[in-house]
Amino acid sequence: MKIGILSFRPLSRRASEEEIAIKKAVRGLGHTCRIFRAGRFQMVYDQQSPWLLYDGKPFPKYDVVITRPSILSDVSLRISLIEQMELMGVRLFNSYESILKTKNKIKTMQILDHFGIPIPKTVVIHRPEDLKQAVKSVGGFPVIVKTPTGSFGAGVTIIESMRALQSVLLWNKPMYLLQQYVKHSKGKDIRVFVVNGKVVGSMMRKAKKGEFRSNIELGGKGSAVEITEEEVNISLRSVQALDLNYGGVDIMRGKSGPVVLEVNANPGFKELQQATGLDIAKSVAEYAVEYADKYKHQLNGGS
Ligand SMILES: Nc1ncnc2c1ncn2[C@@H]1O[C@H](COP(=O)(O)OP(=O)(O)OP(=O)(O)O)[C@@H](O)[C@H]1O
Ligand SMILES: [Mg+2]
Repeated sequence: MKIGILSFRPLSRRASEEEIAIKKAVRGLGHTCRIFRAGRFQMVYDQQSPWLLYDGKPFPKYDVVITRPSILSDVSLRISLIEQMELMGVRLFNSYESILKTKNKIKTMQILDHFGIPIPKTVVIHRPEDLKQAVKSVGGFPVIVKTPTGSFGAGVTIIESMRALQSVLLWNKPMYLLQQYVKHSKGKDIRVFVVNGKVVGSMMRKAKKGEFRSNIELGGKGSAVEITEEEVNISLRSVQALDLNYGGVDIMRGKSGPVVLEVNANPGFKELQQATGLDIAKSVAEYAVEYADKYKHQLNGGS
C-alpha cells in the first residue's frame, strides 16, 4: 500500500514527532509511506492541468492520505487542500467534513448534544443582554469561556465574576461559548485515543498547581489510567458522531458522571505513549493500511 501523511506544519519547521512516528510505523509494516507538506502544494484550476501539484509535479497516486491538520486559524480555508484531494477521489483519513466539525467547538457541542452524549452545560450567546441568563443556566460562577476554535488550552478561560466576564467579552466575535465549570474533576481530565471504533489508549492529565487546564503544553502531567465502560462508550460514540476515523476525546469526571469536553481530529500521542508504553503510531498505521486495502478491494469490484 502507498500511505501518505498530510502535514500542515509550517515549512520552517520539521514534520512533527507524531507524523514521523506514523511514517516509520507504516514502513515497519512493509508499506510505502511519505509525508507531504501542505505548503508545497499548488491547487490548479484551468480545466486541463492536474488539479494538484506537489513541488511543481502532479501529485502522485496514494491509496490513503492520513491528515494531520495542526491548524488553529482559518481552518476552513486551509483545509480546502483536503477537500481538493477528496474531490480528486483520494481517500482521506480523517475526512474534510469530520475535521470541519471537530475543529469548531460550537459544532462539536451541537453534534454531541444532538446524539445525547453527555457534555458540560454549554450556552452560546451573541449579545451582552443574554449573559446573566447564560451564566445562570450553566450553573453560575466560575464559568468557562471558550473561543470556537483553539488548542493547547489557548482560548479556554475561567471567569469568576460578572464584572470580569463583562470586561473579557469584547463582542468583537460573532458569538461566545459559555460552559459549566466541571469543578468535581479538580483540574484532571482524560485523553482517550480512538482508532477505527476502538479505544487504543487513555491517559489522565493533571493540571499543574494554580492552573485549571490540564493540557500537557501548559505543564499538565500525564499518567496511565483505567477508564470505565461508560467512558469507553461516550468516547466511541463521540468519534463516530463526528465521522472521524481516529480522534482524541477529552473527558472529565463530573459529579453526575463523565462528560466530553471536546474531540481532536489531529490528536497528539507522544505523551500518551510515554505515559502508557503503548505504540499508538502503530495502531494508526495498521488501520490506515487496512483502510487502504479495503478501499482498493472495493475499487477492484470486490465486496
Ligand atoms: N468545562 C470545563 N470545566 C473544567 N475544566 C475545563 C472545562 N473545559 C476545559 N477545561 C480544561 O481546559 C483544558 C482545555 O480545554 P479544551 O480541551 O476544551 O481545549 P483545547 O485548548 O482545545 O484543548 P486541546 O489542546 O486538547 O485541543 C481541558 O483539558 C481541561 O483541563
Ligand atoms: Mg482539549
